[in-house]
Amino acid sequence: MDILKQYDGIIGKKYISQQKQFFSSRKDRATNAMQKLLPNIKGKIVLDIGCGSGRDIILYESLGAKECWGIDTSKYMIKEAKKNITHPERAILSNIEKTSFKNKQFDVVAARFSMHYLKNFEKAYKEISRILKPKGVLVMAVDHPIRELASKKKAYKVQEIIHIGLYHGKVDLKFPTHTVDEYFSPTFFKYFYLDGFLEDRDYESSNPKKTADFMTIKAIRR
Ligand SMILES: C[S@@+](CC[C@H](N)C(=O)[O-])C[C@H]1O[C@@H](n2cnc3c(N)ncnc32)[C@H](O)[C@@H]1O
Repeated sequence: MDILKQYDGIIGKKYISQQKQFFSSRKDRATNAMQKLLPNIKGKIVLDIGCGSGRDIILYESLGAKECWGIDTSKYMIKEAKKNITHPERAILSNIEKTSFKNKQFDVVAARFSMHYLKNFEKAYKEISRILKPKGVLVMAVDHPIRELASKKKAYKVQEIIHIGLYHGKVDLKFPTHTVDEYFSPTFFKYFYLDGFLEDRDYESSNPKKTADFMTIKAIRR
């Protein structure tokens, strides 16, 4: 199955309902971490990569974003996002590796748990830098490579497709593993400089080695 389209099946439906249930009784550590690194987005034009149901678009609009756009590779997720957001035309079926946005269209690009589905980040970094204004900000929360290592059968450097049972094992997702230096590749530093980095200090029960669940990166477009 195509990893970038897995949310089209029952997974998308389950993800949305389990996420709602899960965060009704606990804080959303990843969103909190992203908010620590995000600049003031009042009056800004924002893109949410992997917007899912539109949950973060709603948040960014409530924080005063002038325009908030979302892309997702899942038709199901885009259909759901369009139902939930104020401007349905701003939710678009697209892969971040190649979008139809204009050069320098965005002040801020945010990605909550969407980038690690890619095999590598080279095309995506280039595309994000194209659509960001100079000094524009990229903030992404991604699955922590150290947590992925705990699920791997092969060496750290060997990419594997792993399964993660999200939200108490109720949503079975798969994605390729990554090393830390894939995130901070020469291409990353060609287009961005690193301006912030947070490691999760907590962990979910589905995390077998009790490592950090995720890491959050803030990059500024050169
Ligand atoms: C874990 S969900 C996160 C959804 C939402 N950001 C949230 O935090 O609830 C990951 C989403 O990213 C989308 N996605 C994965 N790879 C993508 C890519 N290359 N470009 C755009 N969306 C992508 C998936 O289809 C899925 O809807």
